[in-house]
Amino acid sequence: MSQAIKTGKAFEFTPENVEAAKTFIAKYPEGRQQSAVLPLLDLAQRQNENWLSREAIEYVARFLDMPYIRVFEVVTFYTMFNLKPVGKYYLQLCRTTPCWLRGSDDLEAVCRNKLGISNGETTADGMFTLLEAECLGACVNAPVIQINDDYYEDLNAENFEALLDKLAKGEVPPAGPQIDRINSAPEGGPTTLLEKTEEA
Ligand code: FES
Repeated sequence: MSQAIKTGKAFEFTPENVEAAKTFIAKYPEGRQQSAVLPLLDLAQRQNENWLSREAIEYVARFLDMPYIRVFEVVTFYTMFNLKPVGKYYLQLCRTTPCWLRGSDDLEAVCRNKLGISNGETTADGMFTLLEAECLGACVNAPVIQINDDYYEDLNAENFEALLDKLAKGEVPPAGPQIDRINSAPEGGPTTLLEKTEEA
């Protein structure tokens, strides 16, 4: 996704986020408030519809008494910060080897054919943005897509399309495995250690 800085609306924290920011800052020693730059940027991004405008970055810099350029350096280092508006549902599609071997190409094709978007693009209605991501750390349930803060796992073209249809209608299906298993247990239930032994 382009890292060009965009301007937006005037920005300042809500009263709740001012308090939250102070709580983060209080975790660090006196005079080390700059250590709270990451959680404050995260607060700002969540308040600003999941992206950081120039105004939001400048506000965080002033809040922490940091030079703007130093905050900008942090923002551009981490891929979780968005420097332009994104869709209501931010799809981070894992493209690393386990997910690729388990069908991430099929999920990318659904985004292309059903939503009409490729990596870094947003649908015209502002509902979905696609970003190709590196390993999301849930390989055992590959392939995986992170949608906003939640992981949707064990996806295939069919259940991913059904998931997108529900999101488009305003429903938010349960996150986690999208097949018949609990967490990372075998599909259909346990296959080993089926009998309980007497406790000593
Ligand atoms: S490779 Fe996709 S979660 Fe690790």
